[in-house]
Amino acid sequence: MSSVNVLVTGGAGFIGSNFVRSALGRHPDWHVTTLDKLTYAGRRENLHDVMDHPRHTFVHGDILDGATSGPLVERAEVVVHFAAETHVDRSILAAGDFIRTDVEGTFVLLEAARRARSLRRFIQISTDEVYGSVASGASRETDELRPRNPYAASKAGADRLAYSYWATYDVPVIVTRASNNYGPYQFPEKVIPLFVTNAIDDIPVPLYGDGRNVRDWLHAEDHCRALDLLIDAGASGEVYNIGGGNEVMNVDLTHRILSHLGRPASLITPVADRPGHDRRYCLDTSKLRGLGWTPQVPFERGLGDIIDWYAANEWWWRPIKESDPAFRAYYRTQYGSR
Ligand code: NAD
Ligand code: DAU
Repeated sequence: MSSVNVLVTGGAGFIGSNFVRSALGRHPDWHVTTLDKLTYAGRRENLHDVMDHPRHTFVHGDILDGATSGPLVERAEVVVHFAAETHVDRSILAAGDFIRTDVEGTFVLLEAARRARSLRRFIQISTDEVYGSVASGASRETDELRPRNPYAASKAGADRLAYSYWATYDVPVIVTRASNNYGPYQFPEKVIPLFVTNAIDDIPVPLYGDGRNVRDWLHAEDHCRALDLLIDAGASGEVYNIGGGNEVMNVDLTHRILSHLGRPASLITPVADRPGHDRRYCLDTSKLRGLGWTPQVPFERGLGDIIDWYAANEWWWRPIKESDPAFRAYYRTQYGSR
């Protein structure tokens, strides 16, 4: 059987590592190459069980370094481009790496994609944050983009740049805009793993503002299934929303986490709000559902299972929280509230 050459950028991060694992399991004809810079968020441990898989190659490198990333793109049939700086709070404190990696890094990959001879799919992983806050209703793929924080703006730049390489150069680009993911190996600066791991240790969970902001939660496995479908059945030049359909207010999410772990609500500590904090995201997913996708993981079960996963996998998160200097330095500066 001849193998399909799949390049996954950012494959040592949260969603990327879930995708690499599921791709190797689901596609016996795929050879997966992970290209990852291993920033604070990218970790070899995230791929511990597939690092030495016979159909997996790991390349430690920066997407901005065209000498490394270019040939990998040129050899690929499918590129799934996850690599990015991803944490909104960090982008508010310092946006430079977001512009460099998310915008310029995407540009470097797209230039290589123009030269690629066998490339049949370039998935640009964008985000629902590009739509900005939506007070009511649900964002459709054709809606105006109104990003409101430096992370979201850098992703919007990359999103439209990728689209332009389809429109101008016929690069087979598909843009995906997913809602908030949850699942194993999510860096514990993001709200679910942060609150779960704090609660396990009986330390306060810092809830921003009035806690009434709404996010739509999507299990990483459902996200990966959507990407699989789009690689085969999506149309070049199109944008697809990927949303879990689970709108939850942060304060309710927090109560559910504490209750699952048997911890008191008194751990909830209101702190200063995130500047420019988007109130609500919500996606209309009818376009993707029209291709046959539907989320498989109910949020009640998925949230419980993932809380249990963090409880059972302290080996993974405790070293990050206790000894990673980048993590500790970041939290010393975070809005001065912790
Ligand atoms: P993450 O922060 O966990 O992982 C990002 C990965 O990219 C890390 O492994 C990091 O080392 C790597 N990386 C960063 N800069 C790089 C560079 N210059 N060269 C090579 N690798 C580099 O991110 P995530 O939460 O898994 O998000 C993955 C993608 O999905 C991002 O593009 C993000 O914008 C998008 N997204 C995330 C969510 C979410 O809820 N997490 C939702 C929608 C879209
Ligand atoms: O919507 C998709 C986006 O989801 C992705 O594009 C981003 O990469 C990803 O980080 C995520 O962004 P959010 O800002 O929504 O995720 P975060 O986990 O940082 O915050 C979720 C909500 O929880 C948000 O309303 C802010 C709030 N929050 C977050 C943290 C870290 C708190 O109340 N306290 C906290 O300590």
